[in-house]
Amino acid sequence: MLVNITVNGVNKEVNISAGEYLLDTLRRIGVKSVKKGCNGSSCGACVVLVDDKPVLSCSVLTARVNGKRVDTVESIKDEASELSSYFSKEGADQCGFCNASLALMVHALKKENPNPSDEEISDFVVGNICRCTGYQAQQKAIRAYLRGGNKQ
Ligand code: FES
Ligand code: FES
Repeated sequence: MLVNITVNGVNKEVNISAGEYLLDTLRRIGVKSVKKGCNGSSCGACVVLVDDKPVLSCSVLTARVNGKRVDTVESIKDEASELSSYFSKEGADQCGFCNASLALMVHALKKENPNPSDEEISDFVVGNICRCTGYQAQQKAIRAYLRGGNKQ
């Protein structure tokens, strides 16, 4: 079946199979910044924004996003790059596998709640599993980024 999706601002007509998931569709059409981790709704590596809301693309059927906007980290390059400088400063920049999805979550949090408490930040990104950082450095970097702290 054919679906129309606006991916990072570009309209795409994509031929999909009925049971295809958005994560697979995006990677098939070359959007490799969306990562396949667990492929079972448990790790958060596959987060994308659908009409501005973060979703796990491994658990959303592509047919369900027909006619919608899908944004990946490419849509928020400047923000992601700024966040990345905070990660570097806090030593939270390691293998990078979780970075794109985390940047999208931070973007969504910023829109939903521009002044989150530490607890609200932790709660919002709790589903983004990171194998490398132990979370403390990431959390510190996100807090500094959201509060406009000093960059390197
Ligand atoms: Fe989707 Fe892990 S790949 S939650
Ligand atoms: Fe490696 Fe998060 S930095 S998984």
